[in-house]
Amino acid sequence: MLYSLLRPALFLMDGETAHGLSLAGLKMMPAASPPAQPALAQTVAGLVFPNPVGLAPGYDKNAEICAQAFGLGFGFVEVGSVTPRPQEGNPRPRLFRLVEDRAVINRMGFNNDGMDVVAARLASLDRARLGGPLGINVGANKDSVDRIADYVTAIDRLAPLGDYVTVNISSPNTPGLRALQDKAALDDLLARVKDAVPAGQPVFLKVAPDLEPTDIDDITASVIEHRIDALIVSNTTITRPALRSGHAGESGGLSGAPLRDLAQQRLRDFALATGGALPLIGVGGIASGAEAYARIRDGASLVQLYSALVFEGPMLAKRINRELLALLKRDGFAKISEAVGVDRL
Ligand code: FNR
Repeated sequence: MLYSLLRPALFLMDGETAHGLSLAGLKMMPAASPPAQPALAQTVAGLVFPNPVGLAPGYDKNAEICAQAFGLGFGFVEVGSVTPRPQEGNPRPRLFRLVEDRAVINRMGFNNDGMDVVAARLASLDRARLGGPLGINVGANKDSVDRIADYVTAIDRLAPLGDYVTVNISSPNTPGLRALQDKAALDDLLARVKDAVPAGQPVFLKVAPDLEPTDIDDITASVIEHRIDALIVSNTTITRPALRSGHAGESGGLSGAPLRDLAQQRLRDFALATGGALPLIGVGGIASGAEAYARIRDGASLVQLYSALVFEGPMLAKRINRELLALLKRDGFAKISEAVGVDRL
């Protein structure tokens, strides 16, 4: 209700200014937990998730509002991407809302406060009182000469301050980063990451949607060999499905509604390739309970979202969880885990 009043003003501002205002508003809220819904709770990668709807990284890059995000109904929150050293990212404007397409294009370029500042913020959180798992998504500095060393450095510093770590090798806005998805580089990266994380802490890998069948097979082989705990499918796309908005020609990663079918297809591809060997997390264009449920039936244990928040407002996670409950009931499932992968090919 309040969001529908504020929305026109937010859409008159530059996208990044509007994002900054939304963070400032959330900071004024108290930390809270999502509503308890036993049918939506499940254990994935050894962590208890109160519901399957997570806040995707990029919204809270610097861990400023993670405690408050649970109060919006999210069952888990992933901060980042965080790099070892702070960096400015690309020149503005670098965040574009494609209103007619219900989409976003961003070329932020890993703007973030750096691991020391983020670590201090995370250390000040009362972890025991967070409403669900806290993920820390790490990346490499743009000017780094040894990208893999950056992941190790960031993990050493940040992993003990969260519940899981995500290795993000799929941002299109750091030149060359996605080359880490190639088999030899990925094997090297994952071996060194596994050595760096504290014993028993889950490691998730986040991939791009823009992959060929051979990439999918190679990534699947690597994540199984290195005992990665979950695969997050996917990041933004560099492809451009038919778009109507005037910002359609901006360079960067596309997210929101036009990413939905591609991200869902990649999820299906990985569900087939991995055959249940590790949990999957579906991301990309999810804006409703039905869309989250379709991802879950295709094999995702959890989902995440970001872009739809821009268009639907801060009550979206609660709404998706309500809709998921109704869909489970309709299909005769007592718990969300019973629906995971029922449509897997
Ligand atoms: C992102 N995303 C992202 N992902 C990531 O792993 N690290 C990051 O730093 C960011 N930054 C970022 C900034 C902005 C402005 C956007 C819109 C997105 C990608 C995000 O987590 C998600 O994978 C995609 O946006 C697809 O999901 P949605 O937005 O379609 O729900």
